[in-house]
Amino acid sequence: MPLTMDNVKAIILDMFAAGTDTTFITLDWGMTELITNPIVMEKAQAEVRGIVGERRIVLESDLPQLHYMKAVIKEIFRLHPPVPVLVPRESMEEITIDGYNIPAKTRYFINAWAIGRNAESWENPETFEPERFMGSTIDFKGQDFELIPFGAGRRSCPAITFGTASVELALAQLLHSFDWELPPGIETKDLDMTEVFGITMHKIADLIVVAKPHFPYKNT
Ligand code: HEM
Repeated sequence: MPLTMDNVKAIILDMFAAGTDTTFITLDWGMTELITNPIVMEKAQAEVRGIVGERRIVLESDLPQLHYMKAVIKEIFRLHPPVPVLVPRESMEEITIDGYNIPAKTRYFINAWAIGRNAESWENPETFEPERFMGSTIDFKGQDFELIPFGAGRRSCPAITFGTASVELALAQLLHSFDWELPPGIETKDLDMTEVFGITMHKIADLIVVAKPHFPYKNT
């Protein structure tokens, strides 16, 4: 298959556009939820530190053992899907769903954000509670329609494995290397949880936190 310079440029652009924002947003909302839920933060840190030990760098081979942290990430995706209404689709033919007639060539959006907070699927939907995923088979691979941060079907995110590994590795390293606190005088109730609506969904306000190194400084 011949590849032109334009093809290569388009692929690189796709990776930057689709890949950086989504990962950053997940970590931004994730750290915000963890700092507001210190018991969850403690449990996740204890797990990572228990597995990685004194080694400074988290390795990809550590990730399969971080069951609680994976549940934390599912919960971040449930409440804060970085692409809240997925990408627009168009119906190829006329179809009736639940009595609603949808003509061919209708553009429609799937509200993954609302699906993640639907009280018919989730107990205490507004509460950040990673425990709900411990011992549960619900995953975000596109088979469980109540949790679809990467979409579902043939048009779903082609980088689900890479995206997940990037978030897991980065979050594990942040939890392992630092203890996190809000700046003096700031309380969790002061954090602005307002979302900015768009194709990707940022926090309106930057998260400002104090990172205290967990390991003593070593001049190596
Ligand atoms: C936390 C990480 C990520 C999340 C939550 C995410 C989510 C999504 C979602 C929801 C879609 C639309 C799927 C649909 O409508 O069914 C999508 C599409 C896409 N994603 Fe991701 N993504 C992530 C990371 C990445 C990364 C790291 C890359 C590339 C390196 C990437 C590349 C793409 C591309 C190219 C598409 C468009 C696919 C198409 O046009 O068919 N994503 N992503």
